[in-house]
Amino acid sequence: MSLTTRSVPALLAASFVAAAPAIAAGDADAGKKTFTRCMICHEAANDTNKIGPSLHGVIGRKAGSLPSFESKYSDAMKKAGTDGLVWDETNIAAYIKAPKVKVPGNKMAFAGLQNDTDIANVIAYLKAAAQP
Ligand code: HEC
Repeated sequence: MSLTTRSVPALLAASFVAAAPAIAAGDADAGKKTFTRCMICHEAANDTNKIGPSLHGVIGRKAGSLPSFESKYSDAMKKAGTDGLVWDETNIAAYIKAPKVKVPGNKMAFAGLQNDTDIANVIAYLKAAAQP
């Protein structure tokens, strides 16, 4: 096979990936079901802290910055916030997928969601749950 016939589809695939939005729009109802995997440690519909901080309104929040959870965050999570990490959709997706990679040293005892659709759905649910 010549270089040309191999590289053209690869280039097309690469440009498609680059043009696609970073996070596809998720389904909040499906995300609510996936969020049951988070609920042992997190609440999203109100300000209750559990093992982890409330995720009510977390989209757009600075990492490690919820005042009522301040004494429980790891130093790594607080430092990530003071260093500028904000939970926009891209950052939260990366964290949910690989918590220990996105914020090394943080103490969330969760392996991560592997499926990108599950991640997009959970983010859609977090956004919906933050509505009054
Ligand atoms: C076993 C408990 C546990 C599970 C399960 C868990 N988390 Fe966490 N989560 C934590 C803890 C503890 C922290 C605080 C980590 C730190 O301070 O280092 C945290 C932090 C976070 C943060 C950062 C919040 C902030 O205020 O900076 C987000 C976002 C988050 N978790 C999302 C999720 C999502 C979404 C799921 C489910 C897919 C999930 N977590 C599952 C315990 C958990």
